[in-house]
Amino acid sequence: MRRRAPLPEGEEKARAVRRLFDTISPRYDLLNRLITFGMDAGWRRRTVRKLALAPGSLVFDLASGTGDLCRELLAAGHRAIGFDFSHGMLVAARTEAPLIEADILRLPVRDDAADGATCGFALRNVVSLEALFEELARVVRPGGRISLLETAEPHGRLMQLGHRIYVCRIVPAIGGLLSDRDAYAYLPRSAAYLPPVEEILAMLRSAGFADARRIPLGGGVTQLFVATRA
Ligand SMILES: C[S@@+](CC[C@H](N)C(=O)[O-])C[C@H]1O[C@@H](n2cnc3c(N)ncnc32)[C@H](O)[C@@H]1O
Repeated sequence: MRRRAPLPEGEEKARAVRRLFDTISPRYDLLNRLITFGMDAGWRRRTVRKLALAPGSLVFDLASGTGDLCRELLAAGHRAIGFDFSHGMLVAARTEAPLIEADILRLPVRDDAADGATCGFALRNVVSLEALFEELARVVRPGGRISLLETAEPHGRLMQLGHRIYVCRIVPAIGGLLSDRDAYAYLPRSAAYLPPVEEILAMLRSAGFADARRIPLGGGVTQLFVATRA
């Protein structure tokens, strides 16, 4: 049996993640729609709604990718700025929002600059979740809001079995047909980077988001972390 290489850590992980998204960027949107059966659009709308910020608020979208969350933010009447470190994803982006090529662990903005922040499907990709949450606490003003969307493992053995077969077998097969099989095999494996929910909530609270809570979405295959900057 072929032994799988261990998941990369530290700077090696950052380089691998950037390379992966540069590679899959041209067909990222198509694959997203297909593998989520189009449900990702509703999850993103919910992410923006749960910010519960007044129209006109300045919202940073961290790891903005091809700009889907930026588009939702603009549609809700917010001012959005996207940040991502994959040049390929930024080139493939379709949004009117300004986009900045930057590492979301070191945002090139002053303290308390934003009224809120979103992040879609990137918690597992960063080198350090604590560093990300501290950076969010630095750039979001007191009273500002965050809404972070991420995949999740559903409850119940049957749901878990079906979900595992889907993400570990079917998703890589679709990726292989339409994009890059290795990349779409890595994405489900990268869920292993996510600590348990209670740990994520504890990290958010200690970073300065005292009321952090989790909302399951899509029957438990996705989750949203929402919080207010204390
Ligand atoms: C799964 S994609 C999500 C894109 C978009 N948010 C969405 O919802 O479709 C993850 C994105 O995170 C970006 N990313 C990961 N780590 C990053 C970091 N440290 N700094 C900036 N962008 C990062 C990748 O380049 C990629 O575009």
